[in-house]
Amino acid sequence: MADPLVDLRSDTVTRPTPGMREAMATAEVGDDVYGEDPTVNALEAEVAALFGHEAALFAPTGSMANQIALQLVVPPGDELLCDADAHVVTYEIGAAAAYGGISSRTWSPVGADLDPDVVAAMIRPEGYHAVPTRAIAVEQTHNRGGGGVIPLATLRELRRIGGDAGVALHCDGARIWHAHVADGVPLAEYGALFDTLSVCLSKGLGAPVGSLVVGSADKIARARVIRKRMGGGMRQAGVLAAAGRYALAHHVDRLAADHAKAARLAEAIAPFGVLATAVRTNLVPLDLAKARLDAHALAAAARAEGVLVSVLGPRTARLVTHQDVDDAGIDRAVEVLTRVLRDT
Ligand SMILES: Cc1ncc(COP(=O)(O)O)c(C=O)c1O
Repeated sequence: MADPLVDLRSDTVTRPTPGMREAMATAEVGDDVYGEDPTVNALEAEVAALFGHEAALFAPTGSMANQIALQLVVPPGDELLCDADAHVVTYEIGAAAAYGGISSRTWSPVGADLDPDVVAAMIRPEGYHAVPTRAIAVEQTHNRGGGGVIPLATLRELRRIGGDAGVALHCDGARIWHAHVADGVPLAEYGALFDTLSVCLSKGLGAPVGSLVVGSADKIARARVIRKRMGGGMRQAGVLAAAGRYALAHHVDRLAADHAKAARLAEAIAPFGVLATAVRTNLVPLDLAKARLDAHALAAAARAEGVLVSVLGPRTARLVTHQDVDDAGIDRAVEVLTRVLRDT
């Protein structure tokens, strides 16, 4: 039998484990649009408590959770500030403008190395002439920033700046679990810094579907209406929420193993001068500017040997570790990628 593929394109490719499937199959369910799904209600209460907030709302995707949160903190016509590489302005297909009428302005892409003073200088106050800034969004960990972790001190300074200016702080925390494991910052400490968070169960945590918006009870009551308007009101969603609860119970601490696998990949390819940034979590960003191969050629050569990588741009690519790639898969990826980079 052919070796199975080593899929390093994303941590979204994981499949539910037998234990997770069992939890899904036996979940108690009800109609969540009526607020009657006990498993969804339990998940929402659990995630709110983890982040030290009053409430949370289950949403089908991270993109919808982000967009619900942005609509909570930025009225139509007003402004959101974020990194030019942020997921909310790169991969959400213009949703902030299309659904929320939100105007987005970005700082130059710096991943996790953001300078709070640069952000502070961009804030535009209320007034007749300019678009008022209502919110700042950060991404923890930063996806296009190579899985970088924004230091707690930077986030605290942003909180102070936002507080002084009356500007809300949103966290796209699709991979906040990875930051928590990498830096040892309690989730509630992150939670205390943000007005709204979106957190994802279907990336490193391995659930098939699901994200949550986290915030005050008042915000989450409004979020419920926005979710329904966007077509995200689900019915017996407890089947999915059960996967999320299982993931929170069993798959957070194990992220350290994914970080170690990413570090091994990074160490192996570093001598080829293609590592875009230091690797902190489960993402390994490649900068092929000086390599003989461009990103498509690298991906094609690796695919021919059963290793899948993501192409992000003509000369940028990404490897992602997750629970469905074991140590033998990493060995194979190291062998294939080092050979391709050396010989092709
Ligand atoms: C940082 C970040 N935010 C949000 C999302 C969106 O998640 P979804 O694909 O569930 O919409 C992703 C997806 O990869 C992501 O990496």
